[in-house]
Amino acid sequence: MTGTEPAITLGGMSPTERPTVYVETYGCQMNASDSELMLGTFAARGYTPVDRPDGADVILVNTCAIREHAEQRVFGRLGELKRHMARDTILGVTGCMAQRLGADLLRRAPHVSLVVGPDGYRALPALVDGARAGARAVDTAFHPDEHYEDVRPRRAAGVKAWIPVQRGCDYRCTYCIVPTTRGPERSRRLADVVQEVRDAVAAGMTEVVLLGQTVNSYHDGTADFAALLRAVGAVPGLRRLRFTSPHPNDFSTRVLAAMADTAAVCEHVHLPMQSGSTRTLRRMLRRYTREEYLRCVDRLRTAIPGLALTTDVIVGFPGETDEDFQETLSAVDVVGFDDAYTFKFSPRAGTPATRLPAEETVPDDVASGRLTELIAAVRRRGRARNVQLLGTRHEVLVEKRARRGDALQARTRDFKTVLLGPDAAAVGQYCTVALTGTTGSTFTGVVVDSGAARRRTALPLAAG
Ligand code: SAH
Ligand code: SF4
Ligand code: F3S
Repeated sequence: MTGTEPAITLGGMSPTERPTVYVETYGCQMNASDSELMLGTFAARGYTPVDRPDGADVILVNTCAIREHAEQRVFGRLGELKRHMARDTILGVTGCMAQRLGADLLRRAPHVSLVVGPDGYRALPALVDGARAGARAVDTAFHPDEHYEDVRPRRAAGVKAWIPVQRGCDYRCTYCIVPTTRGPERSRRLADVVQEVRDAVAAGMTEVVLLGQTVNSYHDGTADFAALLRAVGAVPGLRRLRFTSPHPNDFSTRVLAAMADTAAVCEHVHLPMQSGSTRTLRRMLRRYTREEYLRCVDRLRTAIPGLALTTDVIVGFPGETDEDFQETLSAVDVVGFDDAYTFKFSPRAGTPATRLPAEETVPDDVASGRLTELIAAVRRRGRARNVQLLGTRHEVLVEKRARRGDALQARTRDFKTVLLGPDAAAVGQYCTVALTGTTGSTFTGVVVDSGAARRRTALPLAAG
């Protein structure tokens, strides 16, 4: 804003008062990235982002609908937030639960004024103005061209940038609500993504994570995901390139070659498996068999030696038998995942899985037992791998102060967390560490070289 322009007046506030906005985020990285876009939208309208809800002029809860439990948490939180609202605070619900429940949410939470789905965020400040005048609004329209290209995200402080490259999902996994809440798949233009990566690097970030529900099916009409990886990997100053989540069916030979050739691509892939049983995978409509999944793992490991793999697994999908579950346990063993997110199936209204015969429902105690067993199997494998790594050296990027204590939290290229002493290095620095201890999942380490020894050479020339 220049000095000659009139100050923006919002809802009767004096021009000198900058209104505040607080956003609380649930769910996946896509939601976290959307929250940054929302904050950017409000910042462009003169709002100050704040990190506590107390008395904020606008409170937004950016929600997730993936499992029933996620939604229950949000309803609980909406109740709690009443205590933090000032008389004029506008409370809005955004994200996947907003999209799924729409006007129903206004009925169930009378102190909520706005319900806005993932394609409606550019209208948020205007809707807030309307809410100040007493309106309650619901906007859950899909806008298949919406990528918020003109919005500058207000990024959380940190050393890495999450960059959405694709919105929506065209797969139809039978358990999943995401196609309903996020709409059809669409990709941003390659040039726009590359520009955002350049901006992030110029702002001091050296790592980016490309985001999409099936990120490797990215296609902007001209360029595929392979071309995107190569273009992003060539941005000067970018040192680490990650992406999440890929679908096993979209790892074309071109994508694998681009991963192998692009030095910034890190040696870690999060490859959701969901089940190790072909029968269950078919009923989930995952579109691959157990063997095809394992073959994808082999191809990835051949392309990127030393690749770490993490995954998502669901237990208790309707009709899952003990044998099916044993197949999942054996797949976890065969692959040797470094880590896994494990979930108990949660029926989502409107998804095809809810139309399966009631007698196929897996009793809750059976599903819970499987979950416990699966978690133990994942931990056993992960611990065994991690113990073998003790004494080895790795390049780490120091990401932040750890949540507890004053240790520094750093990350290897293959996504292991390493805790370092408080004065070992600076946040944002790359250095080489030796791994000295492990809890089974995370490591402690000491800096052996305050420069970085890269595991892969031929990085693009770094520029200032
Ligand atoms: N697009 C990503 C997944 C997004 S959802 C992908 O396809 O890989 C993240 C994870 O939540 C999924 O991988 C799945 O394991 C889990 N999930 C999704 N729907 C679920 C449901 N109804 N019940 C339990 N877990 C679910
Ligand atoms: Fe959901 Fe499947 Fe799409 Fe992932 S690929 S978001 S699990 S429908
Ligand atoms: Fe949840 Fe929506 Fe992400 S349902 S997992 S916030 S896409």
